[in-house]
Amino acid sequence: MSLQSVRKSTTLNSLIRMKQQGEKFACLTAYDACFARLLDEAGVEVILVGDSLGMVLQGHDSTLPVTMADMIYHMQCVKRGNQNAFLIADMPFMSYSSEAQTLDNAAALMRAGAQMVKLEGGAWISSTTRLLAERGIPVCAHMGLTPQSINRIGGYIVQGRDPRQAENMINEALLLQDAGANILLLECVPRSLAKTLTDTLNIPVIGIGAGPDTTGQVMVLHDLLGISPITPKFVKNFLRDSSSIPDALKAYVSAVKDQSFPASEHSFV
Ligand code: KIV
Repeated sequence: MSLQSVRKSTTLNSLIRMKQQGEKFACLTAYDACFARLLDEAGVEVILVGDSLGMVLQGHDSTLPVTMADMIYHMQCVKRGNQNAFLIADMPFMSYSSEAQTLDNAAALMRAGAQMVKLEGGAWISSTTRLLAERGIPVCAHMGLTPQSINRIGGYIVQGRDPRQAENMINEALLLQDAGANILLLECVPRSLAKTLTDTLNIPVIGIGAGPDTTGQVMVLHDLLGISPITPKFVKNFLRDSSSIPDALKAYVSAVKDQSFPASEHSFV
């Protein structure tokens, strides 16, 4: 019997259970059916169809040009390749600005195969989170470095180093959990803040550049394969020491689970 046929599908409940049992889970981005299948076969529990596709596939210098049509197309491709992983889709820039637009766009992503939508923001997305949660659409809230706000933030800078900013982030994360967010994704925050948030919240926390203490880890697929033009501190090229792409994906899953990735050299203080 193949591994594929005995593996159970990952659900939101199984991710919550993993948090309760202190188990780590692996998440990676994918944008097409071929890689979705490879990730799924490697045991990646969560696949994110991220708006990072604007940078790694389309060659833009930010995620801002990504459209709903792009997200729906790539979500449909990933859905076709996946069997067991839990699928999250990014709501792209300005696609959740009004209630009606949010509901139409989230519904379109769910129809395309997403099992959860991801929104970037803090307290200001709490009413949107509640709107979606009340209608049965699971929400991942993305805090810390939020690339859709890059022009306001002023660059790809670690967030939450200032104690007042860190305290605000904790309060806003609690607000989002109360509003119905089911997962928090934290990007580029100090390890200690990510640990506090993971310990404080009941929901699973997925980190990228957030240290080893979060419930899950996520990386952009092209960064893991070492084919992105830039290599941020929190990235590790898993293909360098592997003989094939499937082996590199399996090495990433193992390293997340045994907590050898991220190491201190991939984390911020
Ligand atoms: O769009 C994306 O791929 C993301 C990850 C960087 C977390 O949001």
